[in-house]
Amino acid sequence: MKINRICCIGAGYVGGPTMSVIAQKNPEIRVDVVDLNEQRIADWNDQDLTKLPIYEPGLDGVVAEARGRNLFFSTEVDDAIEKADMIFISVNTPTKTYGTGKGMAADLKYVELCARQIARVAKDDKIVVEKSTLPVRTAEAIKSILDNTGNGVNFQILSNPEFLAEGTAIDDLLSPDRVLIGGEQSEEGQAAINALASVYGAWVPEDRILTTNLWSSELSKLTANAYLAQRVSSINALSELCEATGADVDEVAKAIGMDSRIGPKFLKASVGFGGSCFQKDILNLVYISKSLGLDAVADYWEQVIIMNNHQRARFAKKIITTLYNTVSGKKITFLGWAFKKDTNDSRESAAIYVADMLMDERAEIAVYDPKVSSRQMLEDLNYLNTRSESENEELMDTHNEPYGATDGAHAVAILTEWDEFKDLDWERIYKGMQKPAFVFDGRNIMDSQRMRDIGFIFQGIGKPSE
Ligand code: UDX
Ligand code: ADP
Repeated sequence: MKINRICCIGAGYVGGPTMSVIAQKNPEIRVDVVDLNEQRIADWNDQDLTKLPIYEPGLDGVVAEARGRNLFFSTEVDDAIEKADMIFISVNTPTKTYGTGKGMAADLKYVELCARQIARVAKDDKIVVEKSTLPVRTAEAIKSILDNTGNGVNFQILSNPEFLAEGTAIDDLLSPDRVLIGGEQSEEGQAAINALASVYGAWVPEDRILTTNLWSSELSKLTANAYLAQRVSSINALSELCEATGADVDEVAKAIGMDSRIGPKFLKASVGFGGSCFQKDILNLVYISKSLGLDAVADYWEQVIIMNNHQRARFAKKIITTLYNTVSGKKITFLGWAFKKDTNDSRESAAIYVADMLMDERAEIAVYDPKVSSRQMLEDLNYLNTRSESENEELMDTHNEPYGATDGAHAVAILTEWDEFKDLDWERIYKGMQKPAFVFDGRNIMDSQRMRDIGFIFQGIGKPSE
């Protein structure tokens, strides 16, 4: 089975970069990325590559090479579906905000809409690839919709979870640890798996392409993220213990990470993990376990989320208690809003929750982030529904450079580990701030001695206070 045309539904953080790399590496395959969101598609087509809707190092170069050659972005969803041999579903699957499973289960309405649309439009056999993170056994639901509402054509469903991390998406796509493809255990299923494997085979070594049954593939995606998130929550739990005992969490991380059985990655204590995947995937795992009556399993994984919420709250509380138990009317400057560096994505970012808690105490928050727009910051806060939009606007002030943001502040809190924060003129920042000038480093990126020498009262995560 030779793939000539690919369609990807959803031009977001997953679909956009993934399809750009697939198109770059397979110039003979036409790749159409489609989305309902007209503005998003217009941004993908902008001649000015700094206007791409997603900030991702190296993405502009890949798009520049493939766009208009064999990579196309459009809103013509039906047309792209009809002409494609292989269709990727890369739409969002947010946590449900209503009904059964509210706050836990994945909302599959966008996925179901896609399946129905594919069924309605397809006039010949298609391979449908789940790219969005989905709960286990979603492929079964997609297959049922396709088979029962389609035009009598054959569909093969594959699960091909994305393991790219934002901020390093292009590198992760170009040299993945593994590509996972799950499919039906039948001759047709195997042919579909091979067809997708050959698309990746254009640049990924064969021994890194792993094939499994559908359910293993779906479950592996959830559990890979659950394991990673668990590591972050584990080190964050230790960070509190370090602060209480005088140990240094970075020293502990180094000492345990050198044990080859533990390994050095994902041991960075922080103000808490964020992003579109970790929380959502663990909640999914918890929900599935509960639905299956596996309460101990559900409780075990839920603790990872509880620890993360605690870490965010603990950071906010530390700011309040250190600032003499009141932040009312005080300007507190956030450096960073994104959930990690090198992305403009702020979904589930710790910054949102820390800001919300401080605003409850009537603090005035000033924010500078190199890539997140001020509109997005306000939307993030409004989404929490804690207070009215006008109150949020009143209490939050956004800046497009750091010195105005920190001028007159009582405290600076570092929420994202952007490299440029390390090289700011911290003497200048100190001069402009109220005294005593406090810095809370939620990412442990600053040299504490240097900061204390300048005059700051400085506190890191899991670090001795003097
Ligand atoms: C994650 C997975 O890594 C990726 O494989 C999957 O496809 C999607 O989810 P992503 O959410 O983009 O990727 O970022 P990741 O690098 O995993 O970081 C997630 C969060 O954990 C960030 O907020 C990050 O700051 C935090 N983190 C990570 C820590 O606090 N400490 C660490 O040591 C590592
Ligand atoms: P992710 O991080 O999973 O890529 P995003 O929210 O960045 O999530 O991207 C998902 C995209 O899918 C959005 O741009 C949204 O407009 C698009 N989308 C959702 N449902 C549909 C649909 N039925 N048809 C086309 N595009 C859709």
